[in-house]
Amino acid sequence: MDRNRILELAADMTLEEKAMQMTQLSPDMLYHLSPSNLTGPLREWKFDDKQLWETGSVLGPSGAAYLRKLQEDYLKTSRQKIPLLFMSDVIHGYVTIMPIPLAQGCTFDPGLCEEAAAVVAAESAAAGLHVTFSPMADLVRDPRWGRVMESCGEDPCLNGRMAAAMVRGYQGENPGDKGRIAACVKHFAAYGQPEGGREYNTVDMSRGVLRDFYLPAYREAIRAGAALVMTSFNTVERIPATCSKLLLRRILRQEWGFEGVVISDYAAVEELMNHSVAADALEAGEKCIHAGMDIEMMSGVYAGTLKALLEQGRITEEEIDECVIRILELKNRLGLFENPWKDADEQEEKELLYCQKHLDTARRAARESMVLLKNQGALPLGEAGKVGLAGPFACTGNLLGGWHCEGRPENTRSLGEALQEKLGDRLVTAMTEPFAWGGERDVPDGAEEAALGLKDCEICIVAAGEPEWETGEASSKTNLRLSRNQEKLIHALHAAGKRVVLVLFSGRPLEIGPVLEDCDAVLQAWFPGSAGADAVADILCGSYNPSGHLSMSFPRSVGQIPVYYNYYNTGRPAEAKADSYVTGYRDCPNSPLFPFGYGLSYTDFVCEGLKISWAGDLLKASVRVRNTGKRSGGTVVQLYIRDVSASVVRPVKELRDFRKVFLEPDEEMQVEFSITEDMLSFYDEQEKWGWEPGEFDIMTGLDSEQVETRRIFVPAGAGREA
Ligand code: BGC
Repeated sequence: MDRNRILELAADMTLEEKAMQMTQLSPDMLYHLSPSNLTGPLREWKFDDKQLWETGSVLGPSGAAYLRKLQEDYLKTSRQKIPLLFMSDVIHGYVTIMPIPLAQGCTFDPGLCEEAAAVVAAESAAAGLHVTFSPMADLVRDPRWGRVMESCGEDPCLNGRMAAAMVRGYQGENPGDKGRIAACVKHFAAYGQPEGGREYNTVDMSRGVLRDFYLPAYREAIRAGAALVMTSFNTVERIPATCSKLLLRRILRQEWGFEGVVISDYAAVEELMNHSVAADALEAGEKCIHAGMDIEMMSGVYAGTLKALLEQGRITEEEIDECVIRILELKNRLGLFENPWKDADEQEEKELLYCQKHLDTARRAARESMVLLKNQGALPLGEAGKVGLAGPFACTGNLLGGWHCEGRPENTRSLGEALQEKLGDRLVTAMTEPFAWGGERDVPDGAEEAALGLKDCEICIVAAGEPEWETGEASSKTNLRLSRNQEKLIHALHAAGKRVVLVLFSGRPLEIGPVLEDCDAVLQAWFPGSAGADAVADILCGSYNPSGHLSMSFPRSVGQIPVYYNYYNTGRPAEAKADSYVTGYRDCPNSPLFPFGYGLSYTDFVCEGLKISWAGDLLKASVRVRNTGKRSGGTVVQLYIRDVSASVVRPVKELRDFRKVFLEPDEEMQVEFSITEDMLSFYDEQEKWGWEPGEFDIMTGLDSEQVETRRIFVPAGAGREA
């Protein structure tokens, strides 16, 4: 449909129709299925049936048959026959579940994440969905916050590459193409830094911090073509993001040129009243309209106030039309006017959902996302002897992680099953009671019995961690240690002389210092998804050599949080003097337990010989990486840069590029990075983007701590590429 037709459609709409086009409700409401949806935030809005069936989009429905029927019912009553948009939270899988995004960040492999997202899109599209509320590009530094699992971690560069890869995977060339869906990047902006890690709490940061760390990943998602943006619940500079002109008008639309649809988060428009920036619904609606906020999710402010606001001259018809036209254009881009069902197809659902090909992708993604944190010769498992398996994640399919959509834990292979296949009767289990859903916060104590039951095993795998429901939205925690009985199990096995291999399932970096000494090996498995158990078994048994590197630092203790690698320089750096009057703690080092970018392998890599060269206008860094061990394997070569002196304080180092490489034993590779102007640039005090001549430290290494450094001088006017 051409743009003129869209404009005609918009011009033909009544104000009431426009307000509902700008409102997103749940399908249950349309069918009066769930009375609970008519209470809660929606109780006062009293939508009548006519309004309900004029809503422009719905939240969270799925299934080809259901969505075909819903669209059909809708179009029967719709005056203008404008199809409904179906949007849902397909965060890391529809039925085939990929590892959680924090784990995907650890792959340092955007190509693989793009492939995973394409699988997610194919399944979602067949099930009739049009839009996914993903990627979540919120930068995260505070593992107390439950939603770190939905992010790709603490670094803007990694986060941005992954967000862009996911957008490409979902949308392909065009979200309207078969098997593709539109991506909605969220939560704009800075949702990832709630004070104290407490969910929905205040976010407050300087403009410089916002620019340096928090904005870049959303921008990369938009550069990759994300069709929608979701606003965040929090405030930025004391204004809720949902009505922030700074964020929505100036940064998103003016600076970044975003022309797509902006949607609020769940009931966030109405919540402007709780934020105390709107005295009533009228003021909430007015503020959001002025900010250019197109779709209100799950509250009825637009529906209830647009008419009055217009009559009172507080908003203009042009402002409303601007939003409506953007929504119609999205529907057009998805091809819905020609084919309102898009790819919804029951037959395809049967063929695609959870098919072997998709499970294979999930297994590859899970394997690459796991991080070997410690290994004192315990892994891979040897060829002989009994192997013990204990812990609440030993015999459960609850490995999918939060937001697992239509994924079914009961159909998911457990670690016990996957290991049984590889080890047969060498495997012995004990104390495998899983966490009870919504029950006690710990599993029953069975440590002594376990040590007894596993007495013939020289080596014991402890599959421990935090239950899925303690991660994700509304799941902040102040205690990040393993539960008491899990720690007890580890200590008991160690005390019984076993070699302990800890496999950690979690949605955040946990505080594992208290058990680390007693473990001979630690594998961080995260929530690895549908094929996660097989992936863990592949790694434990040595058929896959772990290659994941941390997307987020592991704290030594909760008291250190936030602990992250790219902190700003201070006047009293810890390295400067050997006295107490430097930045630090009396009772704990500043460094994390395991730093960003860290990850071990079953082989050894050496990364050295960093050289910096100018090739004409191009500045290049080149470093040699060699597999000096006995197995083939993968690692991540990382490039960091530090601006030695600038007009504003800069971070001690910033990841600017990385390369995942796979090498055979004794194989060597020269990894070359181009250092572009953007890599030397930052927003200065006047918020101007650019680089300043002077010295820079160029660093390469296999994690963010152990780096080789060369200092270079980049003079003014040093050519096109710095
Ligand atoms: C979450 C969003 C999500 C939305 C719709 C909200 O509570 O913050 O991430 O997309 O619900 O389910």
